[in-house]
Amino acid sequence: MKFDTPATTNPIDQLKVVGKGYTRIDGPMKTTGTAPYAYERHDVVDNPAYGYVLGSAIAKGKITSMDLDAAKGAPGVIIIVTADNAGKLGKGKLNTAHLLGGPAIEHYHQAVALVVAQTFEQARSAAALIRVSYQEDQGTYDLAAAKNIAPVAKDEPDAKSATSVGDFAGAFAAAPVKLDATYTTPDHSHSMMEPFASMAAWTGNKVTIWTSNQLIHSSTEDVAATLNLPNDNVRLISPFIGGGFGGKLFIRSDVILAALGARAAGQPVKVTLQRPLIPNNTTHRASTIQRIRIGALADGHITAIGHEGWSGNLPEGRPETAVMQTRLLYAGANRMTATRLATLDLPEGNAMRAPGEAPGLMALEIAMDEIADKLGMDPVQFRILNDTQVDPEKPSRPYSRRALVECLKMGADKFGWAKRGAPGKTVDGRWLVGMGMAAGFRNSMVKKSGAKVYLDGKGDITVETDMTDIGTGTYTILAQTAAEMMGVGLHQVVVRLGDSTYPVSPGSGGQFGASNSTSGVYAACLKLREAVAQKLGFKSDDTMFADGRVTSGSRSAALADAAGEVGLQAEDAIEYGDLDKKYQESTFAGHFVEAAVNSYTGEIRVRRMLAVCAAGRILNPKTARSQVIGAMTMGVGAALMEELAVDTRRGFFVNHDLAGYEVPVHADIPHQDVIFLDETDPIANPMKAKGVGELGLCGVAAAVANAVYNATGVRVRDYPITLDKYLTRLPAVA
Ligand code: MOS
Repeated sequence: MKFDTPATTNPIDQLKVVGKGYTRIDGPMKTTGTAPYAYERHDVVDNPAYGYVLGSAIAKGKITSMDLDAAKGAPGVIIIVTADNAGKLGKGKLNTAHLLGGPAIEHYHQAVALVVAQTFEQARSAAALIRVSYQEDQGTYDLAAAKNIAPVAKDEPDAKSATSVGDFAGAFAAAPVKLDATYTTPDHSHSMMEPFASMAAWTGNKVTIWTSNQLIHSSTEDVAATLNLPNDNVRLISPFIGGGFGGKLFIRSDVILAALGARAAGQPVKVTLQRPLIPNNTTHRASTIQRIRIGALADGHITAIGHEGWSGNLPEGRPETAVMQTRLLYAGANRMTATRLATLDLPEGNAMRAPGEAPGLMALEIAMDEIADKLGMDPVQFRILNDTQVDPEKPSRPYSRRALVECLKMGADKFGWAKRGAPGKTVDGRWLVGMGMAAGFRNSMVKKSGAKVYLDGKGDITVETDMTDIGTGTYTILAQTAAEMMGVGLHQVVVRLGDSTYPVSPGSGGQFGASNSTSGVYAACLKLREAVAQKLGFKSDDTMFADGRVTSGSRSAALADAAGEVGLQAEDAIEYGDLDKKYQESTFAGHFVEAAVNSYTGEIRVRRMLAVCAAGRILNPKTARSQVIGAMTMGVGAALMEELAVDTRRGFFVNHDLAGYEVPVHADIPHQDVIFLDETDPIANPMKAKGVGELGLCGVAAAVANAVYNATGVRVRDYPITLDKYLTRLPAVA
């Protein structure tokens, strides 16, 4: 169905199943270890061989020779795949560097060999016997040093690299109150629980790959492009995923090497990327340098707002678009943004949860706190004063629905914001205590999404789509959607996901998964309802589906009766008109944080957090809350812990494992609360829903930073906020 006019009343509005906080239907399988991951598909392949990936020991240069003899003769070794014997490989659209390197090396830990052996241990042991000689070239690894030579990034399809409205320079110069500050965010690693893993099996020249992947359709095409196969010769299967955070939006070396290894070995091969390889072999969120200038009148109205962002990437890589939200979030007649990209020879920078807004708001929302401070205004009031209900770059474009002010007001009220003291003035024993807040903002994207639905003779419904569930609750919300549409209980719906033979969805990314994939199921169910009505001889426009029965006027039948011997099926996709051009579709949050800083040691403890979110209809408050809680936790990591340390001489991330790359644990997060505003967005899609998974992260780190400032009176503009950056600036202990 084409969605090109705002939704009116539809079957979802009954809210008998949708909108209820059902526990995840895949939960018992996940928690009992019976949801098989790619590396554990013992049920589909007997005795696969094991591949072990060898990563490059240099960041830039070339391999001059590889001595494989000792490895080939090691116990259990079946075959060794390198660029020398892999045949000519293409490159996927969504890949920057090649997934198998050699002789040219594009980044550190780029895969250069796959050893295939009878056991994992044999493969690992043999890989250690490979001797690689390199010619190492000097690369560029330091964003701060490269910053001055960075050209303006090429225009992206969805984002111009530079924007300008009014006279930014003039208005900024004339502003009575102004801020000009530079912020930095470091490289981040996704650090999902399940490592990258794939198992490949060939039948003739067709390959099936069980893998862990967020975007099945584009990844299937990218496997085909890399292996020079027709798309139809590649099948990807990824029903269960142990987290991705954007790292699994595209294929990585495990996928291609499992396929190459299996072809060369003549038997199924499975490959997992060992954890210490992952941060340099795969992608990361690129570090940024961000300069923000804001000019305001003494009454607090913003007259000029400018945001420039620098990031680096490999040749052909994309920039981190950290300035994007600044084009949309606050009013102000004179504005500019610019995205600049340096060529660096570090591993590939790419999407990590809320690319753009997540690092962008880390800077912008400290800047807003800083200028509110200069104005002597409460930061909540300052944001409310500068709210806009239209796209500030194109004032004829309203927001479909924008309840940021309501989020901020409710958050301030529920959090006890009125009790916040002046910076450095609230003392609790040895602790300096402060409150901080930030606005959260993340766009809501529309994407075509397809689904197939079946009705069987028991009146049960099966849903198929190549959508994925990366731990977000997709299985459950799709089942809720189908149950609501067909008038059956949740337990009567089976959902099958993550197979490239199913109808194409946009996959899990950019918080566009929930709204678009449920809308696709909605569309398919509308067709199935028509087929049911027709089969029963009912008029389709007045037919009601409830409690397993179908009713039209005075006639009624069991839904199962329409199935007949072979059942009924329907397939459709949601497609969109231009509502997202006429309206700006986004999601909003007010993030509030209380933090305590030990006045002796400088240790920071987050004490309380609250997120108030406005994201249209909430399809399942339990899974949505869980998404936001997880995102808030990730925000604390970004504020206080997460950083890939760059070796700027040799060009790699030094802390490339989960021991050296710190993320928050339970003890770091004492109390979190989430409130969803009760709203719908009929302009967004027939579900009237938007996403929350990334919104929950956007702004959180700045709220933590602002709480630390309020606690101590010390401003830190470089993430993560670690002791070395502020210990000597803490107020003297009385
Ligand atoms: Mo998200 S970074 O689009 O998985």
